[in-house]
Amino acid sequence: MNHFDYRGGILCAEDVPLPEIARAVGTPFYCYSTATLERHYRVFEAAMPPGTLVAYAVKANGNLSVIKTLAKLGAGADIVSVGELQRVMAGGVPPSKIVFSGVGKKRAEIAAALDAGIFQFNVESEPELDVINEIALAKGQRAAVALRINPDVDARTHAKISTGKAENKFGIGWSRAQAAYAYAAKLPGLDVAGVAVHIGSQITELEPFRQTFSKVADLVRILRAAGHKISRVDLGGGLGVPYKTGMAPPDPSSYGELVRAAVDGLDVQLTVEPGRLITANAGVLIAEVIYVKQGDEKAFVILDAGMNDLIRPAMYEAWHDIVPVRQPAQGVQRRVYDVVGPVCESADLFARDRELPALSAGDLVAILSTGAYGAVQASGYNARPLAPEILVRGRQFAVTRPRESVEETIARERWPEWLA
Ligand code: LLP
Repeated sequence: MNHFDYRGGILCAEDVPLPEIARAVGTPFYCYSTATLERHYRVFEAAMPPGTLVAYAVKANGNLSVIKTLAKLGAGADIVSVGELQRVMAGGVPPSKIVFSGVGKKRAEIAAALDAGIFQFNVESEPELDVINEIALAKGQRAAVALRINPDVDARTHAKISTGKAENKFGIGWSRAQAAYAYAAKLPGLDVAGVAVHIGSQITELEPFRQTFSKVADLVRILRAAGHKISRVDLGGGLGVPYKTGMAPPDPSSYGELVRAAVDGLDVQLTVEPGRLITANAGVLIAEVIYVKQGDEKAFVILDAGMNDLIRPAMYEAWHDIVPVRQPAQGVQRRVYDVVGPVCESADLFARDRELPALSAGDLVAILSTGAYGAVQASGYNARPLAPEILVRGRQFAVTRPRESVEETIARERWPEWLA
């Protein structure tokens, strides 16, 4: 459920008509809904066992106002870089609720996280154990770690966002897990507190989670039997969202039941790391139709948003619903279009052969469910400045990140002496 609806024939974000924002900031722009963010967070948290640390995976949407909105509800954060550490701290997430994931943490990043006093490192390799141990000892600290295990489970999602198969770079191989814990236990700079997993993203069935969680529970028992004091479990993120009308991924409550069943009787501090579920349907990307062009084989709707603004369709063959901001009249003519951007790549395609109400130049369209992995994955390709991010709350809206200017991007560069 979200708070983007037609009112009086105009698509609104909560109580704000989207054309009003377009007039104020131009297009394209991202627009997020506070009520939707809050609702998603609350529904998800309520589905978890009491006391669960809901560490929002900030990679999904790192906008400071989005982070702060969630932090105010009690969210923690799952981070993967020192940049995300700085952002979530700026957004008000207490360090005691921060989990540091990722396969390639650098020394400076580990040191910064230790200085901040984060909750836990999710460690993905034996060499990383050594480095965290060394840095913690040098600081006279013990770092709380969980070992992220690769359970070799097929998440049955797009190959580029599947992380729990043995062939993926993530986690410590299932067959090496016990040895890795034995090794970690000997490192005096580490407090080996937990087991972590994360098998992928946009997962639309419960079965892969079920298999994974039961492997985790088994491992906790095996490790305890071997004398390890395992007091924490981190089950990662990955629950999918409906991108298409009619699509019905498992709801948070059935996912929650699975989680409860998995940790039942284990007596552990539980962490989960949802990203997409919280933010995807809380955001839209608004673009203007520049041209409608009839080709020899196809009709193209050319938008002023491109793959640099939203790379998901090009990168993961992702489907996003696209709707006109002005509600089409009943019985309006429908046409089949390729909806594309202005970027000079054939991959700059938001939707192929999409049936839509007839569109014309100047119309605004909304690309839906773009609150996760949208703005965060944007680039300046084709010297296209980053689009602004707007946050709506009721009848108010705020420009939380203004449109980047080309002048700013030019000013950041330096001439080499021989060209100056
Ligand atoms: N925890 C870890 C360790 C992760 O790597 C991720 C996502 C999450 C949690 C959050 O997963 P979520 O609940 O959002 O599924 N750019 C891709 C998605 C990449 C996901 C990367 N890791 C996309 O646009 O589909």
